[in-house]
Amino acid sequence: MKVLLIGSGGREHALAWKIAQSPQLTKLFAAPGNPGIAEHAELVSLNVEDHAAVVAFCREQSIDFVVVGPEAPLVAGLADDLRAAGFATFGPSRGAAQLEGSKGFTKDLCARYDIPTGAYQRFKSAEPAKAYIRAQGAPIVIKADGLAAGKGVTVAMTEAEALAAVDDCFDGAFGAAGAEVVVEAFLDGEEASFFCLSDGKTALALATAQDHKRVGDGDTGPNTGGMGAYSPAPVMTDEMVQRTMREIIEPTITGMAKDGNPFSGVFFAGLMITNKGPELIEYNVRFGDPECQVLMMRLKSDLLPILYATATGTLDQVTAEWRDDPALTVVLASKGYPAAYDKNTPIAFIPEESEDAKVFHAGTALKDGELVATGGRVLNVTAFGSTVSEAQVRAYELVDAVKWENGFCRRDIGWQAVARENG
Ligand code: AMP
Ligand code: GLY
Repeated sequence: MKVLLIGSGGREHALAWKIAQSPQLTKLFAAPGNPGIAEHAELVSLNVEDHAAVVAFCREQSIDFVVVGPEAPLVAGLADDLRAAGFATFGPSRGAAQLEGSKGFTKDLCARYDIPTGAYQRFKSAEPAKAYIRAQGAPIVIKADGLAAGKGVTVAMTEAEALAAVDDCFDGAFGAAGAEVVVEAFLDGEEASFFCLSDGKTALALATAQDHKRVGDGDTGPNTGGMGAYSPAPVMTDEMVQRTMREIIEPTITGMAKDGNPFSGVFFAGLMITNKGPELIEYNVRFGDPECQVLMMRLKSDLLPILYATATGTLDQVTAEWRDDPALTVVLASKGYPAAYDKNTPIAFIPEESEDAKVFHAGTALKDGELVATGGRVLNVTAFGSTVSEAQVRAYELVDAVKWENGFCRRDIGWQAVARENG
């Protein structure tokens, strides 16, 4: 099978690494890719926003299957255009990608199909939103409706903070994404991420993970794309997984199909495990980054036929086997991230990898043959352990062996699971 992988992050490096191990693969291309992905794929400099150019490349190279990594091309309808041109594609249509592209869309779906989530209202102007907030009181959560690179959410502990967040949204802090605002009830509990494939009819549960969204130790500081993750998430017991499938995923699949947007691809459900059980915080329609890195480490099965079955409506014919051991990944980011940071800082050394430890590349590039950091999140140092505590020790040993002066990381990735393990 000739495969084209779209994307250039740590998530795509992990996907490329797994796909490259498939006996079914004959050739892997990646656009635009990164130096880590280049170890497994031929990089092509396609403009992914130019859908006609992507389709033309697929025709030229007789591509059998396209895997779309990030959300932006999905929300822009790349999967629709590829499928219309006859190419099997992993990733939802533009219509189905609204699950991630519009928080209001997802909340309305939850309301229609009785999917547990925080009570909410949608607003197109500030005054009614503020009146609703005053009536509900704090804590309360304010969200820009559209894609805001993980930054459009304010969990307001006071009413004043909530009112200010409404002004920020309507004053354009998140651009067009903030033209509409969702105000929703604060959910109290432990967060977990749940990953599940669907071909529009069948669901295949994958695995669970926990992310660390804040930049600083102890979950402090601004939100980021994710500073580290581990899988599985201990809060997601078998019972919670079954309830999530029954109460959240299955009604979503049925509802999306009924509403004319059958969903094909991966559901990344952000959950709050409250005292009532799992409640949906949000959907993403692609693998998490860095959650994908720990999922791919743990996946024993061949990834390629699983993704292909998702894309071609034959998901009932495949299964996914997982290593029980937890995997943990630490994100090394450029100093200053998630605000401004220097680019093209040299990465002098990345340690040897083993079967149980891997360094995935995210924002790296080769400049005159030297590896440099070009992005905010740059390397994902990933290791196994027999416990999360052991995986954490191993991952940080590897982190400390990396030589990159402009890099930093959180030192407490996995703290919730480690605290549980320590009783
Ligand atoms: P989101 O971008 O929707 O994932 O939100 C970012 C973060 O805000 C989530 O990971 C949660 O930590 C938090 N959050 C979002 N919605 C809620 C809610 N209704 N209650 C409590 N925390 C929330
Ligand atoms: N790590 C969170 C995300 O991929 O959205």
